[in-house]
Amino acid sequence: MRYIMNKDKEIILTGIRSNDEPTIGNYLGAIVPLVELAKQHAGEYQVNMFVPDLHSFTTPIDHDALLKQTDRNLKLFIAAGLPIDHEDVYIYRQSYIPAHSELSWILSCFTGFGEANRMVEFKDKSSQLGGDRVSVGLFNYPILMAADILLYGAKWVPVGEDQRQHLELTRVLAQRLNNSFGNLFVVPEDVEAQQKFIDRDSAPRVRSLRNPDKKMSKSISDPAGTILLSDNPEDAAKKVMAATTDSIGIINFDWQKQPGISNLLQMLALLTNTPEDQIISTWQNKSSYGDLKSAVATAVSDTLNKLQSNLAKVDESQLASKLTASEAKMNEVANSQLFKVQQAVGLRSKE
Ligand code: TRP
Repeated sequence: MRYIMNKDKEIILTGIRSNDEPTIGNYLGAIVPLVELAKQHAGEYQVNMFVPDLHSFTTPIDHDALLKQTDRNLKLFIAAGLPIDHEDVYIYRQSYIPAHSELSWILSCFTGFGEANRMVEFKDKSSQLGGDRVSVGLFNYPILMAADILLYGAKWVPVGEDQRQHLELTRVLAQRLNNSFGNLFVVPEDVEAQQKFIDRDSAPRVRSLRNPDKKMSKSISDPAGTILLSDNPEDAAKKVMAATTDSIGIINFDWQKQPGISNLLQMLALLTNTPEDQIISTWQNKSSYGDLKSAVATAVSDTLNKLQSNLAKVDESQLASKLTASEAKMNEVANSQLFKVQQAVGLRSKE
């Protein structure tokens, strides 16, 4: 194992946005894999799971709902099985650790405007918003994300394909400052290594049930194609039964020709925790789209029922004391890393 700054354990870090209710796609593609990773590796690794609440209003939101949604997301991690009683697991809110904002500012002064302007997520989101609704905060989003990662020396940041460019920018900024100022930052591994680490060729992306060419998304209004974790399980099952498929009439796993069917097969594998190959060989060449939909609908409603009942059972006082302890510790770690950077860039004395 390579030496990591001040630490004997390598760090796995991830943030899950809290501006609105997560979808079952977020759950299967991000929350569950992270929780599994934490369950398997806490002890051997340190696991940082945080809610990037400052990222939440890079696009317009209902600010009165933010705190509640942040709290709900933390509870969702626990309902999904995050072992918060483990001493190597830390959960925290980004805005409770002011060093994130400070490092973000410093990093922004080492980021080229053109470099930031090449971020595809910025282009996509800003074209959806248009005009003055596109904030400078949205432009700076990836730089804050780099700060989230670099403050803790995280080597493992298992993000999805859509965050590839942001992780790449983080690596570039870390290397740039390391070259100018000596070894300041741990450079996180690249996306290929991250995906190998989480034992997947690519992070699963659940698609919209109505527009299976697109990712299931909470930011684009597509209620019939999107299952939220707060959905009534029966309503969610109905959405699955009404999913868009195709007129080919034979089940095949083929994202190009049969994206709707492929999405259902992938969902079934994830929901039932069965290897995709096994699901495919069970269903391949059958003509019963209705049976496949029923199987997915049942799996969706079972999953929501279980998650919602776990959510109601989360121990609030245990969560509150875990947060307090985690945030105190993370402030220490982050402040000490920030101080090194401040020294390096000439804001603090090196003596
Ligand atoms: N941008 C990530 C997303 O939308 C969320 C995020 C913010 C994040 N900061 C991070 C993920 C740091 C990993 C590490 O999914």
